Amino acid sequence: RHLFNAPAVIYLTVERKVSPWMIYDMGAFSQSILLAAANEQVDTIPAYETAKYPDAVRKAIGIPENELLIGGIAMGYRSEGMINAFHSQRSSVASFLTIKH
Ligand SMILES: Cc1cc2nc3c(=O)[nH]c(=O)nc-3n(C[C@H](O)[C@H](O)[C@H](O)COP(=O)(O)O)c2cc1C
Repeated sequence: RHLFNAPAVIYLTVERKVSPWMIYDMGAFSQSILLAAANEQVDTIPAYETAKYPDAVRKAIGIPENELLIGGIAMGYRSEGMINAFHSQRSSVASFLTIKH
C-alpha cells in the first residue's frame, strides 16, 4: 500500500502495438535500470505490488490507453532496518544451467 516507502517509483510502459517480444526487451531494460541504480548507491525493488492495481496507476500518472503498463521499480536509499540486511539464498548455477556438448 505504501510502495515499500520508496521515495520514487519508475513505471515501465510500452506501446500496445509493439511485438510481444518486447517483454524480453523490457526485462533486459529493467535489469539495466537496476544495475545503473546500484552503481549510484540507489537500491531497487522490481515489484508486482507497485502495479497490482493498474487502473489506479494509469489514472495517477496518466498512462495513455495505447500503452501497456509493464510494471514498477521502487527506488530509494537503503535505511538501517533489519529487513534491508536480509540476503536471500542463491541456487547454485549448476542447478539451473545445462551445458550440452
Ligand atoms: C518482475 C518482478 C516482480 C516482483 N514482485 C515483487 C513483489 O510484488 N513483492 C516483493 O516483495 N518482491 C517482488 N519481487 C522480488 C524482489 O524485487 C526481489 O527481486 C527479490 O526480493 C530478490 O531480492 P534479492 O535479489 O536482493 O535477493 C519481484 C521481482 C521481479 C523481478
